[in-house]
Amino acid sequence: ARIVVLISGSGSNMQAIVEACEAGRIDGHVVAVISNKAGVRGLDIAAEAGIATEVLSHKDYPTREAYDAELQKLIDNYRPDLVVLAGFMRILTADFATHYHGRMLNIHPSLLPKYTGINTHQRALDAGDTEHGVSVHFVTEELDAGPVILQARVPVFEGDTAQDLQQRVQTQEHGIYPLVVSWFCSGRLKLTDAGVELDGELL
Ligand code: GRF
Repeated sequence: ARIVVLISGSGSNMQAIVEACEAGRIDGHVVAVISNKAGVRGLDIAAEAGIATEVLSHKDYPTREAYDAELQKLIDNYRPDLVVLAGFMRILTADFATHYHGRMLNIHPSLLPKYTGINTHQRALDAGDTEHGVSVHFVTEELDAGPVILQARVPVFEGDTAQDLQQRVQTQEHGIYPLVVSWFCSGRLKLTDAGVELDGELL
């Protein structure tokens, strides 16, 4: 399978997916890494791995619609089977989400449906949660609301800071995201009208 990864920052999830491809744990390869921000570490990691990189700055476009239309063109030049959002910090237009329906994944650092949007770690702390985590989901038109495929849970300890939680969650991210991508690439995972199916069974 041909995978395009979208990032905005450090790219550690993208790196975990690239490594899983190289190790043969994912039946696919990352054909391009696209960032909406120049100069981020994830672009260096991708370039060092010999992967094509692209920067498409949202600041060069007057509207979200104009940006997403151009982004879609750029992505589709690479003819992806799967689009992976890995720390891509943009709200997507409905047209964009619809175009990649059933073939775009996102990772969100909360136990969805809790805490869509940003600052999830601090919000879990503020709420006094004893458990927190991360979700991988199919992307649909609604922000962070697509059907969940897999979650990982972490404990919240007394005295934890948002940064502690972020690190604990990220360790889990690097396990579950490559796993879900591997399911998709081997044809085991599908989004149907009934919902998410793994090996033909509804999740
Ligand atoms: C991750 O914590 C992910 O859950 C969130 O953004 C972060 C991206 O980290 N959506 P990285 O760029 O993969 O290191």
